[in-house]
Amino acid sequence: MTGSLFRRLLLIAVALIVITLFAIDRVLVGTEVRLQVFTIALISSLMALLVAFLISRSLAHRVSKLKQITEGILTGAPDRPVEDSSDDLGSLEHSIAGVAKELRRLLDRLRFESARREAILSSMAEGVLAVDPDLRVTFCNTAFLKAIGFRGAAFEGLSLLELVRDTGLHQLLREVLSTGEPRNLRVKLSAAFGRTFEVQANPLAMPAGRGAIAILHDTTELERLEQVRKDFVANVSHELRTPLAGVIGYAETLLDGALSDTANSRKFVEIIRTNAVRLNSIAADLLVLSELESGIDPEPEVISVAGVLDAAVVTVQAEARERDVTLICENVENVFVSGSRLRLEQAILNLLANAIKFNRPGGEVHVRATLDDRHQVEIVISDTGVGIPSQDLPRIFERFYRIDKARSRQVGGTGLGLSIVKHVVERMNGAVEVESQLGRGSVFTLRLPSV
Ligand SMILES: Nc1ncnc2c1ncn2[C@@H]1O[C@H](COP(=O)(O)OP(=O)(O)OP(=O)(O)O)[C@@H](O)[C@H]1O
Ligand SMILES: [Mg+2]
Repeated sequence: MTGSLFRRLLLIAVALIVITLFAIDRVLVGTEVRLQVFTIALISSLMALLVAFLISRSLAHRVSKLKQITEGILTGAPDRPVEDSSDDLGSLEHSIAGVAKELRRLLDRLRFESARREAILSSMAEGVLAVDPDLRVTFCNTAFLKAIGFRGAAFEGLSLLELVRDTGLHQLLREVLSTGEPRNLRVKLSAAFGRTFEVQANPLAMPAGRGAIAILHDTTELERLEQVRKDFVANVSHELRTPLAGVIGYAETLLDGALSDTANSRKFVEIIRTNAVRLNSIAADLLVLSELESGIDPEPEVISVAGVLDAAVVTVQAEARERDVTLICENVENVFVSGSRLRLEQAILNLLANAIKFNRPGGEVHVRATLDDRHQVEIVISDTGVGIPSQDLPRIFERFYRIDKARSRQVGGTGLGLSIVKHVVERMNGAVEVESQLGRGSVFTLRLPSV
């Protein structure tokens, strides 16, 4: 481009020289000095042309260097040394090189800032989504794309509806765009597999006008916990109400005259006592659970597993005999674990009580404790009882979960026993597993680190 400009100027100069020489030749026709004047004019023109050519070549070279400097700003090419020349072009070259240096510094900083912002947004647990005035997506972070299960590569420029088909979010951002006011909303996003989000949307100034940015905070887990808390309170109230109703009812019957009925009064007092014992056991289980959940553990001790199993078997022996269930300790090795002896005993008692309670007359309960090849103590309590339906297996360790409420009430159960077992084992850095076959029996396995 610059080369062609100087070439054009040279062509014009040549044309002017030719015209001048032609004019001299015409004007001086027939004079004696015609040849001398013509020769001098020709020589000086040629010299002028040569000088002009050399100057234009140097200018073209310097202009092309300036072009390279300006182009280098965008391509990120390294700084070029500037020639030390004091003419006008030299000072222009210096000032462009200075501007280029400053621009490059600014661009580097911008790139760094944008990379930093990108890294912060990508590492955020909250989903971030930005849209332009036409509700087209200009940005969204990994958390947002993950939440809505977007698998495509390019989201930029997609309309919001193409990315998330959710009218609630759409409406919220539309309102922010039209009013310029921040908005909040709790939405269940079908695109995010029904998860619930607390969305905070704010206006965002953009070159094309007012856009909007939305921050999505996943509240599904919080809501689940809130539901668990509500269920827990409801369950506790319900579980307490039944024995309480028994106590109140029979106490009132006694007061209303049954006290003098010696045949029945003893029976009524016994019912009151049974219900009070039940209330006491619920309260005790709840206390144990809340202590386990508080995370405060007693000083750990080295526990002999055989000792704990023996003590627990002795405790439930009478109950087993009453239900015609045989307890068999078949392979109890001399192994040790670390933790609270009292808690472990309570967990084993709960498992044995279940194995007896949900068994059949003439049934058996087998107890085994061995060391596995990963240096873990394996305590297995298996029974020949009613078994657990496979769909209930994942839920039996939940608080208050009972498969057959009517049967549980009859055999006496609140649904807290296995929940205590799970907590005890986890606090001892172990795990509990269950396998069961309906109508044939269940196998509960505790795995605890051996000491
Ligand atoms: N060995 C088992 N065989 C069959 N079902 C069982 C067995 N162990 C537990 N279950 C089922 O799992 C449920 C939960 O057991 P869990 O021990 O938590 O409660 P519970 O025995 O009913 O009451 P609690 O132990 O608080 O007195 C029981 O109600 C029962 O339906
Ligand atoms: Mg139980």
